Amino acid sequence: MSNDHEPLATGSAAGKIILFGEHAVVYGRPAIAAPVQQLRAYAEIHPGRKCQVVAVDLNRVIDVAEAPEDDPIALMVRLACHELGRSLPPWRIVIRSDIPMAAGLGSGAAIAAATARALLAGFRVDLPLARLSEMVYEVEKLHHGSPSGIDNTVVVYEKPVWFVRGWPPEPFATPRPFHLLIADTGIPSPTRFAVADVRAAWQKDPVRYEALFDRIGRIAAEARRHIEHGRSADLGPLMDENQQLLAKLGVSSPELERLCAAARAAGALGAKLSGAGRGGNMIALVEPEKRAQVKQALLAAGAKRVVETKVA
Ligand code: MEV
Repeated sequence: MSNDHEPLATGSAAGKIILFGEHAVVYGRPAIAAPVQQLRAYAEIHPGRKCQVVAVDLNRVIDVAEAPEDDPIALMVRLACHELGRSLPPWRIVIRSDIPMAAGLGSGAAIAAATARALLAGFRVDLPLARLSEMVYEVEKLHHGSPSGIDNTVVVYEKPVWFVRGWPPEPFATPRPFHLLIADTGIPSPTRFAVADVRAAWQKDPVRYEALFDRIGRIAAEARRHIEHGRSADLGPLMDENQQLLAKLGVSSPELERLCAAARAAGALGAKLSGAGRGGNMIALVEPEKRAQVKQALLAAGAKRVVETKVA
């Protein structure tokens, strides 16, 4: 990190993928998400003269007291201090992240969660995960107006979760871990635009969109049963079907379709976009022995980066 001295406290949080149910989850259907331990955001606290955030990847220094209300990291710091009844501490909060931004991998939520965790550690206090998740949700609202809450939930709980908007999340058993490749189209796609476009389309044709959301919700329910019974190979066709429905919602793209097709042709059991779509990342379900060949095919089809992860 950018500071030579030992930090006073640290915090970190994982990125996330949505396995099933993105977009439909905004409209009350269930979705399944999992953390990605290989991609993390980190925050370190160092003594300073005033409360500042140093966002290393953005090359920005934010003076928390002066920052505008809609600055997400400053908001996180203010919320955490308010929650704990503290005034802004004279700390430099140094943040960096491995998670690409606007790529469907929960970078905003993970940065907020890592920042909150570092502050809690700095103040030597703890908060229930549910409360931490609510605070990160407040920050998510700045990123896009009507988040379902799935990103903050999976990032804070750091477990595979079954999520229905407005209900407590249900972490659930994955008796047989399974492997996914996460491939980046390299095309940034801020969640708020895709979510707003789906909303506009739903308002124009609610009957069609509600039917698509229902089908996606049923796929998520079926997928949960397969995961809980250790039948992960059966998830492949469900991923493909979910992808077709996402394309009908208007959130796929030629690049995402190309990567999904390349993964399937190279032996993946199923593939779909993950997150808001349009750009960002897709996921492919792979048997361990096919990992290398599918990864190669994804790179040859234009993926900018491929990360392997295990859902366990
Ligand atoms: C973004 O990771 C998932 C979406 O369903 C939006 C949301 O749930 O808030 C596209």
